[in-house]
Amino acid sequence: MGWVLGLFLLVAASALAEGLPKGPGVDLVYAKCQTCHDLQYLIDSKGVDRATWQAEIEAMKGYGLTLTPEEEKKILEYLATYMGPNPPPAAPAQASAPEKLDGGKLYAQDCAGCHQAQGQGVPGAFPPLAGNPALFNDDYPALVILFGLQGPIEVNGQKINGAMPPFGHLSDAEIAAIVNYLRQAWGNAKLAPKDLKPITPEHVAELRKQALTPAKVHERRK
Ligand code: HEC
Ligand code: HEC
Repeated sequence: MGWVLGLFLLVAASALAEGLPKGPGVDLVYAKCQTCHDLQYLIDSKGVDRATWQAEIEAMKGYGLTLTPEEEKKILEYLATYMGPNPPPAAPAQASAPEKLDGGKLYAQDCAGCHQAQGQGVPGAFPPLAGNPALFNDDYPALVILFGLQGPIEVNGQKINGAMPPFGHLSDAEIAAIVNYLRQAWGNAKLAPKDLKPITPEHVAELRKQALTPAKVHERRK
């Protein structure tokens, strides 16, 4: 019987990791469209045309979604192209030299919207990452990025009880680059233990297999 359960967990984990089709604008969809509901709503609506996606975005604005006109254009373009009735264009051929990942750039794209450009956070809503010792809590920061976080936390005397959506759609290498960036950005290197080694993409791949819930990640916070 054990193998049946094992197989099921494997399939469930891979469906989760698969997420949305990759394409320009997908990061914005992950950042903006799973704050109120999970992405299954979008996946279930796949195949509708541009006008229907446009109307869907309008409806979300009615529920409280805020977008700049620029963000709205990018999201609509993504949904119409990758979640529309026609198959998306073939992925661009991989450039011969793999692009060097820039953790700072990834942070600006995926995280700064909530945690702010200098990692200062927003009091009561988004915890600061600048001067935050939890970043050196073993695997915890990588787990937060992979699986999200839910539960009360306290950072340097500041209490927050919110939820962070998972960013498991990022690659293992991207997540490693972000964690390594955060551990030295904004003077955070001062908090680092002496024997700190950079986290590797291979280690992130191992952590990904745990398939934790945001509440379980909270239990891993020391
Ligand atoms: C401010 C909260 C909020 C945000 C942000 C949000 N949604 Fe929704 N979404 C909702 C609510 C509420 C429903 C309706 C749930 C229901 O009817 O059961 C919904 C439902 C949906 C549905 C299911 C079809 C429907 O209309 O019921 C789709 C598709 C959808 N959202 C797409 C998106 C997309 C795309 C984004 C990002 C551009 C997004 N949502 C962001 C609140 C939000
Ligand atoms: C939609 C807003 C949002 C985005 C985008 C976001 N976060 Fe968060 N993040 C939060 C919230 C809210 C919390 C606190 C959750 C709680 O109270 O349990 C949090 C918590 C964290 C924590 C744990 C801090 C602690 O002291 O325990 C880390 C680490 C973190 N985020 C890193 C990131 C990184 C890296 C990214 C980009 C890949 C990112 N976040 C993107 C909202 C966000």
